[in-house]
Amino acid sequence: MSLVHEIDYGTPLSKSEKMVTLTIDGQEITVPEGTSIMRAAMEMGTQIPKLCATDMMDAWGSCRMCLVEIEGRNGTPASCTTPVAPGIKVKTQTSRLAEIRKGVMELYISDHPLDCLTCAANGDCELQDMAGAVGLREVRYGYEGDNHLGLDKDTSNPYFTFDTSKCIVCSRCVRACEEVQGTFALTISGRGFESRVSPGMDEAFFDSECVSCGACVQACPTATLTENKVIEIGQPEHSVVTTCAYCGVGCAFKAEMRGEEVVRMVPYKDGKANRGHSCVKGRFAWGYATHKERILKPMIRSKITDPWKEVSWEEAIAYTASEFKRIQAKHGKASIGGITSSRCTNEETYLVQKLIRGGFGNNNVDTCARVCHSPTGYGLGQTFGTSAGTQDFDSVEDSDVIVVIGANPTDGHPVFGSRMKKRLREGARLIVIDPRKTDIVRTPHVEADYHLPLLPGTNVAIVTALAHVIVTEGLVAEDYVRERCDWDEFQNWAAFVADPRHSPEAVEKYTGVPAELVRGAARLYATGGNGAIYYGLGVTEHSQGSTTVMAIANLAMATGNIGRRGVGVNPLRGQNNVQGSCDMGSFPHELPGYRHIAGDEVRHMFEEFWGVHLEKEPGLRIPNMLDAAVEGSFLGLYVQGEDIVQSDPDTKHVTAGLAAMECVVVQDLFLNETANYAHVFLPGSSFLEKDGTFTNAERRIQRVRKVMAPKAGYADWEVTLLIAEAMDFPMPYEHPSQIMDEIARLTPSFAGVSYEKLEQDGSVQWPCNDKAPEGTPIMHIDHFVRGKGRFMVTEYIPTDERTGARFPLLLTTGRILSQYNVGAQTRRTENSMWHEEDVLEIHPHDAEQRGIREHDWVRLESRSGSTSLRATITDRVAPGVVYTTFHHPSTQANVITTDFSDWATNCPEYKVTAVQVMPSNGPSQWQEEYEAMAKNSRRIAAE
Ligand code: SF4
Ligand code: SF4
Ligand code: SF4
Ligand code: FES
Repeated sequence: MSLVHEIDYGTPLSKSEKMVTLTIDGQEITVPEGTSIMRAAMEMGTQIPKLCATDMMDAWGSCRMCLVEIEGRNGTPASCTTPVAPGIKVKTQTSRLAEIRKGVMELYISDHPLDCLTCAANGDCELQDMAGAVGLREVRYGYEGDNHLGLDKDTSNPYFTFDTSKCIVCSRCVRACEEVQGTFALTISGRGFESRVSPGMDEAFFDSECVSCGACVQACPTATLTENKVIEIGQPEHSVVTTCAYCGVGCAFKAEMRGEEVVRMVPYKDGKANRGHSCVKGRFAWGYATHKERILKPMIRSKITDPWKEVSWEEAIAYTASEFKRIQAKHGKASIGGITSSRCTNEETYLVQKLIRGGFGNNNVDTCARVCHSPTGYGLGQTFGTSAGTQDFDSVEDSDVIVVIGANPTDGHPVFGSRMKKRLREGARLIVIDPRKTDIVRTPHVEADYHLPLLPGTNVAIVTALAHVIVTEGLVAEDYVRERCDWDEFQNWAAFVADPRHSPEAVEKYTGVPAELVRGAARLYATGGNGAIYYGLGVTEHSQGSTTVMAIANLAMATGNIGRRGVGVNPLRGQNNVQGSCDMGSFPHELPGYRHIAGDEVRHMFEEFWGVHLEKEPGLRIPNMLDAAVEGSFLGLYVQGEDIVQSDPDTKHVTAGLAAMECVVVQDLFLNETANYAHVFLPGSSFLEKDGTFTNAERRIQRVRKVMAPKAGYADWEVTLLIAEAMDFPMPYEHPSQIMDEIARLTPSFAGVSYEKLEQDGSVQWPCNDKAPEGTPIMHIDHFVRGKGRFMVTEYIPTDERTGARFPLLLTTGRILSQYNVGAQTRRTENSMWHEEDVLEIHPHDAEQRGIREHDWVRLESRSGSTSLRATITDRVAPGVVYTTFHHPSTQANVITTDFSDWATNCPEYKVTAVQVMPSNGPSQWQEEYEAMAKNSRRIAAE
């Protein structure tokens, strides 16, 4: 195996359709208009020396290494900044050019440490390569003059070091931060000889605006910005292309390795979801995979109060199967079930639901998607006919108006957030509908045209009010609606939204959003060109989550914003494979491909293929499993890669359900909170230890490739096979590719997917079948999947969760960039330096009323429970609204959340909880007890 190297063409690809023919070094080449001479040369295999140019960003033209001669033109223009022109004749190699390049290089080297042999970048340094390429052998000026060799290193960032003495001031880092990441954390300060790169106002990296995405490190052609792991371990020797296991963006990475050790994760330029960019989690926060707290031996115990006993895999699997069989013999087939993981691969998820349906003999399978995007499945299924986002990420490049509802892309989906910001800097307009002033509302060179700071729980009212304006002001795309949608349903819906009770003025009193903002936003979306809607859990995790999804779909259909590039309705999926886990049949009522279990034809097909009888009745959802456990009829659970104690609402109810079960089997990397209630612990495998596929928020199926052997001996899919065998339902697969072949055979939208196809194309977006052999980047182009688009009436029904004298504030929750969900992975990395604890955001007015000062401990209480955490006072939240993250088990924000849920899908109402906030002295008693118990569990595991 060797290192995967993508070609650097020096400047970005031109998208022009007009072609230009020119001659370079006597060879004719035809390229799109706007291509640089440097890129044209590279495309025919001629590399022109360069230092400041790279194809991830626009040309800068500062280093003067890439000069060329053009027949009939004076001077020696820089090939990176000079576009091709018809008929020109370019020379890239002449003695004059060689002399100039050598002279330029001499100047660079005379102010550069000559420690190549001991430098961390030795062998991976463009300065070193270029010195060789121009044939520099000696430096005439000596090294005695003024130089920068004694400058200090900045080691404040936990993941990379900034060694200013090696900087050649090429500005690639500054431009990467601006153009690729969109953070603008770096500048070149000083002039001439004094010029140097500086984070913020001459601050240390860690103290600056830097979000540690690493784009500057990747762009740096010298060892000035270098990953600490490269300094520590040395240059990588081989690499494997794989997919990030954090969020639903699905960034492709090269895992660059030395032996079985990861040296660094480098975003893969050919990755179609991320185009060579990443965030701090995917690029740097992978150390959890080798963290010392990982459990590598199976463990069992008969009671959850007993200490764990390490056992062999054979014993653990045999114990699991015998317990499950015992429970079923005594309490019936339906007394056990399982939960699939949106962190695991498609193949693993498919196997777990197959094991439950075929091996357990019931449909008691559910997934964590229940608690995030199940309303997306329902809402988009009802209106468009399919349960997924309509666009690829590239589509945003053609959007004119971007609407972000209940999503925080710069924190939750950072790489897509960067692409969105780029399009906004190019001139697209922005509407943000969110109770908080999220970063995207105002960030360098981006400012929302409209921010609608609605009160949590009023999404349906606001989106219907937008529709009211569009219908009553005659802004409906009538031709589109007549051609593409069910006209009768449209008229019914239009009459509904036109009712004055849905006007912005009428709803203002309970949404809190001034009517003129709603009117302005509606006009902009309907008339501003291509309108694209991106939404997140701020839409779905409500008692009317499914209704809001349908209201959004209505809005897009009414304005003709579905079925081409630049438009669409796009759920920003939370976890890496939440799309895939839903696709793979993780819900109790659906077989893979969203086909109802009650459908005889489909069920019989699976029965025949799997050789087993399948129950026709849908099984239990997670909340129903827990209810049944408390009632005593559900006693065994297999949980793969989920931590429902932390991630599901109403923690007390979850733990009561788990504590009532007789055999809880948890499969995970770490002893998570759910494992406190487990009788069997099966070690999990990280994404680095297995083969498979993930499906991202664009429906893009991408390979996950094994870069090291499973640390506990088995990949997760192999463990499921062992359980299946022990449950007398053998599933003889030798490789995940065979599982994908079975999925393709049984699931029409995956019919054309295979590992060979993924090897060949890199990735593919489903549906991929005979009708769409190359996949489907944009859905519903000529017609909706369900035929005619269906408008749904979306009556606003206020949540039962109301504020009152006892609980006067509304709590809403979300994520922060550096941490991920329940924090099991990111808390075990240096990312915790940015976010050590969950804090409560509270408006200055509410803080003052309660005598709360910055950083004070406060008690947060709802009718479900209470917790304590520190407060931060900010006007990012409106008066009456408080906000926190849920990354730390010692806070457990879900102790606070209630058991209300979406009417259609049971997705919990995480985003609206009536609370009171009051000063407190520190953690509450249960938090201290919890900390003691968690420490004890870790100690037992360590022993
Ligand atoms: S790590 Fe990212 S955010 Fe920080 S300075 Fe570099 S490019 Fe900018
Ligand atoms: S830090 Fe690297 S990329 Fe930035 S200016 Fe210096 S050499 Fe160029
Ligand atoms: S944006 Fe998401 S997929 Fe990409 S690197 Fe970050 S966490 Fe991973
Ligand atoms: S690469 Fe063209 S001027 Fe630097």
